[in-house]
Amino acid sequence: MYKRFFNLQRNPFEITPDPRFLFSTKQHNEALASLYYGVKRRKGFVVLTGEVGTGKTMLVRCLLQILRQANVAYAYVFNPRLTAVEFLQYVAGDLQLPTSGKSKSDLLLSISSYAISRYQKGFTTVLVVDEAHHLSADVLEEIRLLTNLETYCRFCSSGSQN
Ligand SMILES: Nc1ncnc2c1ncn2[C@@H]1O[C@H](COP(=O)(O)OP(=O)(O)OP(=O)(O)O)[C@@H](O)[C@H]1O
Ligand SMILES: [Mg+2]
Repeated sequence: MYKRFFNLQRNPFEITPDPRFLFSTKQHNEALASLYYGVKRRKGFVVLTGEVGTGKTMLVRCLLQILRQANVAYAYVFNPRLTAVEFLQYVAGDLQLPTSGKSKSDLLLSISSYAISRYQKGFTTVLVVDEAHHLSADVLEEIRLLTNLETYCRFCSSGSQN
């Protein structure tokens, strides 16, 4: 009703943060630039922390928009209350990789093959986790192990230059 009254084009009070309505404060700009810098320079882990409601999810959604434009593939986990296998299934599925009937090792293999083949073509693959403080220790360890790929990819790249 107020939409028509105020002649608004969109509903201003949606539950999910919408990047089109980002109010670019200095802090938000800096945080977004740091997130993207971490991706661009393949820095491995990048963590964004902040008080409740300060715009972390909003910035994550802005980052995803930038990643889509920059041809960076990503898996976006927004509900991290998952077991280690569910987490890998979710990540593989979000990367459009087959998941049905796959064991944990199958999933790890397809995620790593996918990331390595993209890396060899000069493309980046990113895992984005919102609400990461809810991750279990098992899933955190799984993510840490996934970063071993970073070392492997660098090894491949220096190997191919020799
Ligand atoms: N810079 C901003 N510009 C416009 N709206 C913003 C901005 N920062 C936050 N908001 C709005 O404030 C609300 C809370 O933001 P958001 O959900 O991103 O916060 P959060 O830090 O992820 O919170 P939580 O810690 O609860 O997950 C949302 O409605 C979001 O759209
Ligand atoms: Mg949030």
